[in-house]
Amino acid sequence: MNKPSILVARAVFPEVIARLQQHFDVEQNPADEPLSREQLVARLHGKAGVFTTGGERIDASLLAACPQLRICANMAVGYNNFDLPAMTAAKVLATNTPDVLTETTADFGFALLMATARRMAEGEHFLRAGKWNKWAYDMFSGSDVHGSTLGILGMGRIGQGIARRGAHGFGMKVIYHNRSRLSPELESECKARYVGKEELLRESDHLVLVLPYSAQSHHSIGAAELAQMKPTATLINVARGGIVDDAALAKALRERRIAAAGLDVFEGEPKVHPDLLTVPNVVLTPHIASATVPTRLAMANLAADNLIGYLVHGKPVTPLNPE
Ligand code: DGY
Repeated sequence: MNKPSILVARAVFPEVIARLQQHFDVEQNPADEPLSREQLVARLHGKAGVFTTGGERIDASLLAACPQLRICANMAVGYNNFDLPAMTAAKVLATNTPDVLTETTADFGFALLMATARRMAEGEHFLRAGKWNKWAYDMFSGSDVHGSTLGILGMGRIGQGIARRGAHGFGMKVIYHNRSRLSPELESECKARYVGKEELLRESDHLVLVLPYSAQSHHSIGAAELAQMKPTATLINVARGGIVDDAALAKALRERRIAAAGLDVFEGEPKVHPDLLTVPNVVLTPHIASATVPTRLAMANLAADNLIGYLVHGKPVTPLNPE
């Protein structure tokens, strides 16, 4: 019997490709560059499934051009590249990779918070530039992490992981805002108190963004929100670009209306707003919060499990729009 055909839209672990080849005729994007829209549509011709990595937009017009497509398996927990209602209407299954990256991403969120609060990147650039020639009482003094107030916007699994690290490891007072409140059990486990968004902005010493991107969360943090934050506060984004208005943030950082920011994600990435590249008080990383070898492998295997589960056995592992 003919194996179903699938497309793997970007380079991924060879061992995961080998697993997929046991079940499918696999076409891989030969270059490790994102496919243009036209290339993606052309390569999807006749394919039953696609392994995506988060940058490929799957919407009504693509689905109309690819009538044989039955499943899009994203190697990411975020799925803002999917138009879920359009996929559901076209009876195309969407899957993502939750859980396997939670702790790794929470580790990174906390690391970025610490690097930002303690001005590690600024210090490192100064040292590498050969400028360090004396001790100074005020050299790169940052803000304390321990005992401070940790604010979390978006309290899903990753937000809860960051809350636990802050509360249990660093004695931080944790406040959060989310679409819905956590259960009393989870609130007590995370030692987190639910507050309104204004209180979150006003009270946080370190504010971490971990909410999904959607039309509703677009520019959730802009000039008005930044103006409500403490001038000593830091802002950390490990969620998605587009949640923050990067131009407004760069202006607030330059004018020291907040102390510093740590950003792993950007509007229009991999392009970064030029103003962010010229302000010193921001730590910038290239969307690597889930990037450890075991976690990226687990994500790739889970995306493969979804393709195999659905196309071979009729049962996906982590569906977003089950029939
Ligand atoms: C995710 O899983 O959504 C991360 O941002 C990696 O893309």
